[in-house]
Amino acid sequence: MTATTPSEHDPRTVWLSDYRPFSHLVDRVELTFRLSPLRTKVAARLHMRPNPAAPGPHVLRLDGEELRLISLKLDGALLDLTPDETGLTIPGDLLPDAPFTLETLVEIDPAENTALEGLYMSNGMYCTQCEAQGFRKITFYPDRPDVMARFSVVIEGEAPVLLSNGNPVAGTAGADGQTRAEWDDPWPKPAYLFALVAGDLVAHRDRFTTKSGRDVDLAIWVRQGDQDRCAWAMDSLIRSMKWDEEVYGREYDLDIFNIVAVDDFNMGAMENKGLNIFNSKFVLASPETATDDDFARIEAIIAHEYFHNWTGNRITCRDWFQLCLKEGLTVFRDQQFSGDMRSHAVKRIEDVALLRARQFREDQGPLAHPVRPESFVEINNFYTATVYEKGAELIRMLKVLVGDQAYAKALDLYFSRHDGHAATIEDWLRVFEDVTGQDLSQFKRWYSEAGTPRLQVSDSFENGTYRLVLRQHTPPTPGQPVKSPKVIPVAVGLLAQDGSELHPTRILTLTEAEQSFEFTGLNERPVPSILRGFSAPVVLERETSVTERALLLAHDSDLFNRYEAGRSLAREMLVASLSGRPDLQEAWLDALVPVIRDVDLDPAFRALILRLPGEDDLAQALADRGITPDPAAIYLARRSAGDALAAALARDLPGLLAGLQDNRPFVPDAAGAGRRALHAALLALQSRLDGGQAAAAAFAAADNMSATIAALTALLDNGQGQAELTAFAGKWQADRNVMDKWFMLQIACAAPGKAAEIADALTGNADFDLKNPNRFRAVFGALAANHAGFHQADGACYRLLADWLLRLDTLNPQTAARISTAFETWPRYDAARQALIRAELTRISATPGLSRDLSEMVGRMLAAG
Ligand code: TRP
Ligand code: ZN
Repeated sequence: MTATTPSEHDPRTVWLSDYRPFSHLVDRVELTFRLSPLRTKVAARLHMRPNPAAPGPHVLRLDGEELRLISLKLDGALLDLTPDETGLTIPGDLLPDAPFTLETLVEIDPAENTALEGLYMSNGMYCTQCEAQGFRKITFYPDRPDVMARFSVVIEGEAPVLLSNGNPVAGTAGADGQTRAEWDDPWPKPAYLFALVAGDLVAHRDRFTTKSGRDVDLAIWVRQGDQDRCAWAMDSLIRSMKWDEEVYGREYDLDIFNIVAVDDFNMGAMENKGLNIFNSKFVLASPETATDDDFARIEAIIAHEYFHNWTGNRITCRDWFQLCLKEGLTVFRDQQFSGDMRSHAVKRIEDVALLRARQFREDQGPLAHPVRPESFVEINNFYTATVYEKGAELIRMLKVLVGDQAYAKALDLYFSRHDGHAATIEDWLRVFEDVTGQDLSQFKRWYSEAGTPRLQVSDSFENGTYRLVLRQHTPPTPGQPVKSPKVIPVAVGLLAQDGSELHPTRILTLTEAEQSFEFTGLNERPVPSILRGFSAPVVLERETSVTERALLLAHDSDLFNRYEAGRSLAREMLVASLSGRPDLQEAWLDALVPVIRDVDLDPAFRALILRLPGEDDLAQALADRGITPDPAAIYLARRSAGDALAAALARDLPGLLAGLQDNRPFVPDAAGAGRRALHAALLALQSRLDGGQAAAAAFAAADNMSATIAALTALLDNGQGQAELTAFAGKWQADRNVMDKWFMLQIACAAPGKAAEIADALTGNADFDLKNPNRFRAVFGALAANHAGFHQADGACYRLLADWLLRLDTLNPQTAARISTAFETWPRYDAARQALIRAELTRISATPGLSRDLSEMVGRMLAAG
């Protein structure tokens, strides 16, 4: 018997198993846009023919939503058909069994489009977002990724800049203020990669010559006044183009590459062919306005979208169930790139922290789903940490399992075999099987089974032989009560008691539920370093002594596992103090303090080690051990650990801070970012001791945004910083991206019991804008991330969030649904909080007119209890 999830009962559910090729092929698409805010006309001419691979009879179903159909012609003859809510059906008896041309003329209202899907307006500029199913809000079309066609586009309007995919064919500007441009994209593509931008924009330009000699014009288009904040994004783009040539042998394939920055955007960015569209916060940066984290994220997202040109665009997905085919691979590629640009160890630690915070959390709750889901109601709800981050982990594991050389060969084969096609996970795995001769059917379970495997380890030592016994078990997830053993590559090294390396890293490949592995010829009982580099996305469960962890923290040659030893020590210490077990604080400090003092160690690494486990992470750790987490107690335990650390480092702090003081101009590189991150972490500790004096001075002296935010955070965490907040707002009032930080920080740093009040007040601020996803996220994303604040016992934050999700849902369902994941952990809390959250979820789900997006999310969350 298999359990069912709510989506299976929803009549709107789409199934992977129902995939059928589309009835027709589209050879060419000609689009003409006559732009106008409330009455944009879109004329489409589709050159189609029956698909020989699809069984007849060939009825033609076109997707289309919120379109006013003005006329419809088949081979020049008017057809009188009426569309329904979701599209238009042309009966088979009207269709020739040969190539034909279908022409539609529709009218749409970009200015009223607050969902930011399809054609919409942002600050007076027209732009599009078509992934996943936005093109159907632009014109009638088979809006599915396996229908690939050549597009040519004519844009008529009044804006000086008119952009679309591919190469510019012609452009004119008339004296009457009317403008016109023609674009032609030589590469067949699915509709979700279509893009159009029109506005009063200026370009930051550069050039790139590919290794085979193609000259490419690069342009980043922004609003007047933002030109001087594009240099970092451009630099990142050029490095990405070079890296993809060097590492994957992939060259760019058009004469022009455009990036546009848009203020109102649902996600990070979008890889439209030759015309990437970005959330402006992931393009614009200057030392004065962007933090080191912003610079790093811009570099990664620019790379990510650029890399999609091959992994996503040239080779796309057959259907949306295969989303991880492009996203997992492209995330993996951007992670490799950032590691090469910066530090592999630091990048890995950060990526794993994100994976645990987002994906493990998702996998352990009611929203758990496989990397390749088998059904969905609203595809936008599956752009998740599981598809993206766990999807990338699967590729990392594959690479470890087959080796670097076979990985490179498999990718070459993938690119040559599937170029120009819409592919599946089966196609992806087959290139690895063909290159290596290995059977990957067991590995494929990683794609179909949800849940985070637990890896239990026990060991023994006898007569020079060290034996490790590995056991795996994956807890049930919604709809999947029983799991099977996975292929798990476990990287293991052995240390001697003095910390020296006894045995270099060896990959143990676990394929059974339980297996043992031996290391022979040892003179002493080793200390194992298990799951080096986090070689698999699993939870390692092993009883380890504090001494062993301290030894690994001090000596492991694998920097990831050094970090991991420090993290698990801190976590155990906090869990112990929260569950009435013996105090481990002193042992933790004894192990940690020397690492922080070690000025020969990379500052970035020390900054990471200093970071205490997050409150949500601790709540999960407690729930895992069968203890109901108490958010207020977690907050206090973490606070007091911070105080103890500050006290233990009291005499070192002034010297360490002075040693990190930097008078050189700001450079957003890894070395500088590492120094500033350590400085920020130490400044926060110093504030616990000096009443915020050092932080206030740092705020006054700050000449870059990283330093400003570090100082302000230290002050707010200390219950101070009101004057500084006012000064900050006075200085940055006119800058949307910077002001998001102002909104976000106040809520992120709100003391327990204050979060609802502060968030509520901020929604009344004249600059709060429900229609801007960045601003909404700055307030409500931050509220959800403030664990003790959000879980205030009277449920005030739950209520506030539910109220605002309902308001947002009428305007922008996609973002409302995404932020509703704030509630996904509800089953882990006490009965009173559970009841409060369930009441809010029930209230949302009972609201008439709820979007498909939010209703699916709320339904899945409610099904947990
Ligand atoms: N494909 C985009 C990326 O990963 C994601 C994306 C951007 C998106 N905008 C979207 C997905 C809107 C769904 C809806 O880079
Ligand atoms: Zn992507």
